[in-house]
Amino acid sequence: MIERLHRAGRGVFQGLRRPMARAFDGAENPLNHLGALTVFFLWIVLVSGIWLFIFFRTSVSGAFDSVEYLTHEQWYLGGIMRSLHRYASDAAIVTILLHVLKEFVFNRYRGKRWFTWVTGVPLIWMIFPLGITGYWLVWDELAQYVAISSAELIDRIPIFTDSMAGNFQSDELLSNRFFTLMAFLHLIGLPIFLVFGIWLHVFRLNSPRINPPRRMMAATFLALLVLSAVYPALSHERADLAATPQVLRLDWFYLHVYPLIQAWSPGWVWALLVAISAVIIVLPWTPAQKQEQPAKVTLDYCNGCERCVDDCPFGAVEMVARTDGTSYTHQASVDPDLCVSCGICVGACPTATPFRSQGSLIPGIDLPDRSAAALRADIEALGGRDAEPRVVAFACRDDRQLHEAHKAGIPTVSVNCMAQLSPSFIDFALSRGHADGVLLLGCQDGNCCYRFGANWTEQRLARQRDPMLRKRVEPTKIAVGWLSPWAEHKRVADRYEAFRRSLRQ
Ligand code: HEM
Ligand code: SF4
Ligand code: SF4
Repeated sequence: MIERLHRAGRGVFQGLRRPMARAFDGAENPLNHLGALTVFFLWIVLVSGIWLFIFFRTSVSGAFDSVEYLTHEQWYLGGIMRSLHRYASDAAIVTILLHVLKEFVFNRYRGKRWFTWVTGVPLIWMIFPLGITGYWLVWDELAQYVAISSAELIDRIPIFTDSMAGNFQSDELLSNRFFTLMAFLHLIGLPIFLVFGIWLHVFRLNSPRINPPRRMMAATFLALLVLSAVYPALSHERADLAATPQVLRLDWFYLHVYPLIQAWSPGWVWALLVAISAVIIVLPWTPAQKQEQPAKVTLDYCNGCERCVDDCPFGAVEMVARTDGTSYTHQASVDPDLCVSCGICVGACPTATPFRSQGSLIPGIDLPDRSAAALRADIEALGGRDAEPRVVAFACRDDRQLHEAHKAGIPTVSVNCMAQLSPSFIDFALSRGHADGVLLLGCQDGNCCYRFGANWTEQRLARQRDPMLRKRVEPTKIAVGWLSPWAEHKRVADRYEAFRRSLRQ
């Protein structure tokens, strides 16, 4: 069932990707930066919000007038800031939804990766009240509708003794103190919790990508600016608690549950929201999966170089004081609760070299379930199976590329992540005569299941990151097939044939 949902979700991304791919290449594709784009939109909300706050009057009588002043009299700055504030908030909802869907369909939330997923749920519970209290502050007819419906919803929570809806019976009963409380929640309380929540959300990741590429930031900001100028955000009529608002233009990004409060009942709306959150929270354990063994350090071969710490995308390795009495001061230590068995640390370790002639191949750090020795044995077994020019391909175990490569009969070694493969294995395959060419089949930047697999591999091949590819390896003997995991997996056989043609020449 879950796998079927993953497949359906990938279909959605495939549909979205096509038009996007025409305008952006892999690294620049917004679909590869959804978390970072959300953070960027929240920055715009914050900066524009500070400007609005300077002119905003937190009183029942003053709020509407101050927003009208900003919109109409100070339209060139205040009006633009108001619209930017509104549209960036809406855009954040779109990117959050796509971000959640993408992490889900690409399986980045299960097992030991549960923490980042589960800490995302409170973020949703903060973002919506943040937007909703914003609509409330304008104190127009929409605010009146939102305030009264929200009060009905809050009154349904049994912990409050006084009825909140009672505050909205007439303009006279509505106190400035209550209004100041809303302003405090929107301007200070919720934003502080949100910042803390985002920090917690990415806390366990090594180098979380919280900024999109500069060009993307500039282009998105420009698009929001044009939208704000062409279609400025406007208020409804001033709120009047003696009358019922007739025609409302709802912001469906934030207010989509409000019609349900009237159509169903506040109790059922709470039940729906809690049920959706509960389903999201239990997803990482649904269904329970077999846990792979974490990476294992063998002290005899660890020289304390720290490369595994730098390259682990999940902060699962740390350096600790040496315990074996050798002259090295530090040793690597793996936290089994954080290690997702991607093998990237093995690809980073200088001792994971298949050229070792004496003894068995035991690197300083290795995956018990997919060891460096097993990779070497696979290269030796598969090399030479192909007709000349002989190609050995490497593909990530979770990707469709591996499946397609097997289907096309390409001799393919499976790796947990492409960055599990130290460049010395490529050198080994070529220099020991196991292959005339090596084809790497991985996912484009931003789609790597383990975050940095494609980046680290490219940097190692380009000799910009340790362990580097040795100079004696001819670049023409390596083909890198970074494909999108959504649609291009079918091009695996084409890539393979094209590479063989180029080797023949
Ligand atoms: C305000 C809303 C959110 C923001 C700003 C945000 C931001 C981010 C950022 C910056 C990353 C790191 C990306 C990277 O470096 O690879 C990330 C990762 C992630 N987020 Fe969010 N996120 C939000 C909401 C959510 C929600 C609601 C969920 C799910 C319920 C979620 C699930 C995840 C997962 C599963 C990862 C990847 C963890 C991994 O690779 O192990 N996020 N998010
Ligand atoms: S296997 Fe992956 S998650 Fe585990 S320590 Fe190595 S790099 Fe980190
Ligand atoms: S990369 Fe290898 S040698 Fe270096 S600290 Fe990690 S386990 Fe030890």
